[in-house]
Amino acid sequence: MINPTVIAELNKQIQHEQSNAHIYEGVALYFEGLNLRGLAAWFYKQAGEERGHGAKLIHHMVERNTPVTLGSLPAPRVTFENPLAAVQSVLDLEEGTTKLINKLYELARTEKDYPLEILLQWYINEQVEEEAWATELRDETATLQGNPAHLYQLDHKWAKRVNAG
Ligand SMILES: [Fe+2]
Ligand SMILES: [Fe+2]
Repeated sequence: MINPTVIAELNKQIQHEQSNAHIYEGVALYFEGLNLRGLAAWFYKQAGEERGHGAKLIHHMVERNTPVTLGSLPAPRVTFENPLAAVQSVLDLEEGTTKLINKLYELARTEKDYPLEILLQWYINEQVEEEAWATELRDETATLQGNPAHLYQLDHKWAKRVNAG
């Protein structure tokens, strides 16, 4: 079984990943409302990936015979001032997630929880990817802000990325 200090933080991280999924579904719905279906599809896909991040931690705990606590999730935003505000909030969220993962990794190291330490290396790599696409999308949206025709081009590009994996 995992040590209780680590269990508490793992349960929080599961909650955070599930909340990220919920938040991305909210962002997807916002883009649906603007008829930007490619960006909506991108965020539905991200929601699925966030659910997967939570599930991977749950699986790790179950395998180590450790009780998992699931909590309720706050209602996500489905409206934003504009597309830039939406994608900026996404980048902020990913940067916050990176900080939490790094803290959890430090805890695994101080508590000498080697299996968790190794599992979290996957999350550390994943956060590099997450921040990369979120930064790219934020920067592109910032450049196109106020130009609806270009926003449709952007939508098309991210629609293609959904299928590119
Ligand atoms: Fe995540
Ligand atoms: Fe993420």
